[in-house]
Amino acid sequence: MNLTEEIKRLKKEKNAVILAHCYQNIEIDEVADYVGDSLYLSQKAAQTDADIIVFAGVYFMAQTAKILNPDKKVLLPNMNSGCLMADMINVEQLREFKAKNKNVPTVCYINSTAEVKAECDICCTSSNAVNIVKSLNADEVLFLPDTYLGKWVEHKLGNVKVTTYNGFCPTHLRIRVEDIEHARKNYPYAKILAHPECSVEVTKLADFVGSTKDIMRYATESKEKQFVIATEKGVVDRLSRDNADKEFILIKDSIICPNMKWNTLEDIYNVLETETNEIFVDKDIASKAVGCINRMLDVSRIGAK
Ligand code: 13P
Ligand code: SF4
Repeated sequence: MNLTEEIKRLKKEKNAVILAHCYQNIEIDEVADYVGDSLYLSQKAAQTDADIIVFAGVYFMAQTAKILNPDKKVLLPNMNSGCLMADMINVEQLREFKAKNKNVPTVCYINSTAEVKAECDICCTSSNAVNIVKSLNADEVLFLPDTYLGKWVEHKLGNVKVTTYNGFCPTHLRIRVEDIEHARKNYPYAKILAHPECSVEVTKLADFVGSTKDIMRYATESKEKQFVIATEKGVVDRLSRDNADKEFILIKDSIICPNMKWNTLEDIYNVLETETNEIFVDKDIASKAVGCINRMLDVSRIGAK
């Protein structure tokens, strides 16, 4: 059986769309309708008229797609695909965090559960975090779960106090100052591009800091020929495939998000065929969380004022 052809046939037969995050195993791009970062994919999820959405990403992404499309079937190819950062804060911990910082607007990274989104004012992705915080016109915001993305936003804005929860991405935190120093020594002419989930010490040393999409855009548009990439391996795989005249070096071999890599073509075929691994979200939670997500989509559509 040719898996790719079978998946394409099932997609057509069932009016399904496949959304794939750029940290996925690269062969998934062959069957995906849209490949991108979490902002792009949540925008595509909000716009689709397909009956079935297969989300090749991690759980919170599929859950967000379901919240935006309560009447559609949303399928996650492999149920092991969780996000360790999203699971670092639950509702009780969120309430405690808010109680310690009363009357401060709460911004949650899209890497969070539906229950947490339901009790936050607005969510953001790494692509729009700076604009989202700016759009609140506040002197102080609470930011969760990622302390590093929050601190990066604070540094970029300069005039907003960003009080962060102590969550983090274990994959991005594997990148150390020594790795950047090592890369500078071994590739003196390369540009070093880092994701804001990396530690403050690491992002300070990078030539460019940006979300998955911004890193890909920077590298594609740049006249430079060699880049060291301080984020997940999927970004290097796609940049190398699409820019044959440039060289992309993963900062170190271990920068792979194991949870993103669970989904395989077989899993996609199986869920499309059997319509299993469906994502459900409690109606009350979803009706509160949708406001948090839609406020973000509105700001991203209009741009920060
Ligand atoms: P993006 O917002 O850049 O897609 O990142 C999502 C993510 O999980 C990064 O680790
Ligand atoms: Fe979550 Fe980190 Fe994996 Fe992104 S790379 S999905 S933040 S664990």
